[in-house]
Amino acid sequence: MIKILVVDDELPILKSLSFALKQDYQVYTAQTGAEALRLLAGEHISLVLLDLRLGKENGITLMRSMLQINPDAAIIIMTAYSSIESSIEAIRAGAFYFVTKPIQINQLMLLLEKAASQLSLQETILGLKDVIRNSLIGISPQMQAIYHLIDRVKDTKASVLITGESGTGKELIANKLHFSSNRKEKPFIAINCAALPESLLESELFGYKKGAFTGAVKDEPGIISKADGGTLFLDEISEMEPRLQSKLLRFLQEGEVRQIGGDNLRVNVRVICATNRDLDQEIESRRFRSDLYYRINVINIAVPPLRERKEDLSELIPFFIRKYAAAYGKQVFGIRPEAMALLNRYHFPGNVRECENIVQRAVLLCSGTEIGPEALNLKYQYPATELGQEDYIRIYPCKTMKEIERQVLAFYLKTNKNSRRETARTLEISERALQYKIKEYGL
Ligand SMILES: Nc1ncnc2c1ncn2[C@@H]1O[C@H](COP(=O)(O)OP(=O)(O)OP(=O)(O)O)[C@@H](O)[C@H]1O
Ligand SMILES: [Mg+2]
Repeated sequence: MIKILVVDDELPILKSLSFALKQDYQVYTAQTGAEALRLLAGEHISLVLLDLRLGKENGITLMRSMLQINPDAAIIIMTAYSSIESSIEAIRAGAFYFVTKPIQINQLMLLLEKAASQLSLQETILGLKDVIRNSLIGISPQMQAIYHLIDRVKDTKASVLITGESGTGKELIANKLHFSSNRKEKPFIAINCAALPESLLESELFGYKKGAFTGAVKDEPGIISKADGGTLFLDEISEMEPRLQSKLLRFLQEGEVRQIGGDNLRVNVRVICATNRDLDQEIESRRFRSDLYYRINVINIAVPPLRERKEDLSELIPFFIRKYAAAYGKQVFGIRPEAMALLNRYHFPGNVRECENIVQRAVLLCSGTEIGPEALNLKYQYPATELGQEDYIRIYPCKTMKEIERQVLAFYLKTNKNSRRETARTLEISERALQYKIKEYGL
């Protein structure tokens, strides 16, 4: 139930309001400002009904103190006189709305509903932002080092280049950098350089003046200007055409945006770039400007592939289970050790993205409360070299297919304790064929 705090110095009013509201709300009451502030601080209440005239106390001042404790509180002012001035002052000072006494309960209920729905919307938005901010997880030393680096550079304007294989979390890191920085209230704008053709990318980024080219029917400030005060995230930077690279370089050097056919605008934008290509190689083959590389690579965050930080699985997998169990409304709470062991041995070519997809599918397929190996469906995706120690087939140097086959047969016969039936099943051949080969190779 939603909590509401009713503040009025007249006890009869407090009593009748509590009575009217207690069906739909959890009601707290206070007769003095001090009491109200104490409740607000202790109970995490976001909905307040406040009498503007509280004995000698100034209701507006009290309201300001309340908003200091909980800036998101929706405060509805009650005023005995339909004094427009004081109500306007209250609204200016941050009140949600006002009602005049004597209070008409139906009207008040409607207003409260409105305030409550705005609060829950606000909470959803805050919650979502929180999810973005906090969802970068992992306990491995490599991830710890990344958190540390983010913390050290977040409030600087230094350009950051995030490198790493596809699906390692580069975009999430860019998000984290912005939303934990002192720029977080300002825009975070992400552009995928691979998604737009050169001409469009240029006009999108730098903006244009009306008439600068056919189709420029009005002035357009461009994304870099729109990100003023905030962060510009250029994803897949390696895909940017050389001509645009020089233009970006000029912007980074001068801090000014040159609109197409227009003015130079001074802007304060933090630039974060990401790529899953090897930029050194791109520079060598002259597809990427080395001077731009030095400009964007002031700080480098190299995100290691998931297979090099398997410790993170112990946090990522429960996190994704919770996420998808909630999304699909399924009662899945964990993963069985055998299934976890399989994942620990898997090499995740698609990194965290692939891990997330695997868990998502497993949650969907899972028939019990824990994910078992059967829900994972990884069997055919392993390269032999990525298997665990116990499954590792050591092939001694040899040339012929026959020789290789012989070693594989010997290995599986041994792991299956010479059971021909098991071995035939593992290798997906008939027992007769196996029998024949055993004879042929003299095993
Ligand atoms: N450390 C992490 N914690 C939680 N989720 C993660 C983490 N790393 C990646 N993810 C999730 O994995 C998915 C892929 O991450 P992201 O898009 O950031 O990868 P990327 O490196 O930008 O990949 P690409 O190079 O393909 O664009 C996203 O759904 C993201 O939320
Ligand atoms: Mg990405």
